[in-house]
Amino acid sequence: MQYRPGRILITASEIQTRVRELATAISRAYANRDLLLICVLKGAAIFWADLCRALRIPCQSDFVAMESYGDSVSPLEEPRFTKAAEVSLSGRDIVIVEDIIDTGHTSVRLRELLRAASPRSLAMCALLDKAERRQAATLIEYCGFVIPNAFVVGYGLDFAQQYRHLPHIAVLESLPET
Ligand code: IMP
Ligand code: MG
Repeated sequence: MQYRPGRILITASEIQTRVRELATAISRAYANRDLLLICVLKGAAIFWADLCRALRIPCQSDFVAMESYGDSVSPLEEPRFTKAAEVSLSGRDIVIVEDIIDTGHTSVRLRELLRAASPRSLAMCALLDKAERRQAATLIEYCGFVIPNAFVVGYGLDFAQQYRHLPHIAVLESLPET
């Protein structure tokens, strides 16, 4: 089966407008705090780049990467960091910057791992929320868009490392065999 980006679900200008709104909300909530953005690689990289440049307050940034759950979710094999944060998280006001919350398992685990480092506060900012796919309840304090249950690519999100560079979010479509 071949796949390619199909219908545009969220246009580039809709994304840019929403990112500015999220940045405004975060700038208000974290004025005079000690904001640390934790960008979850790789999918959130482009979102983080736009979001942090739209903030109107000082912030630090660091990057983490997580082992994937793949298709199976076994509570016995909790994913770890493949790249941990490098700055000290203790006492910080952390906003996690994620591309998409799907089943919720990654987010639950990520919050648990970061919480263990004793931040002052911890919040999630996710560009996309595939709410109907949720298996594990998790808070999204700052949410860009709730989307239907479809596999999407673009604006950082990939299919087999492709399509991250698209400026919009598109639904991945399968092409009929020829
Ligand atoms: P969760 O643990 O099921 O919430 O998985 C979240 C992760 O799965 C995201 O950070 C993405 O890396 C990946 N993912 C889930 N849905 C999509 C999608 O539609 N497109 C691209 N990646 C996705
Ligand atoms: Mg991800």
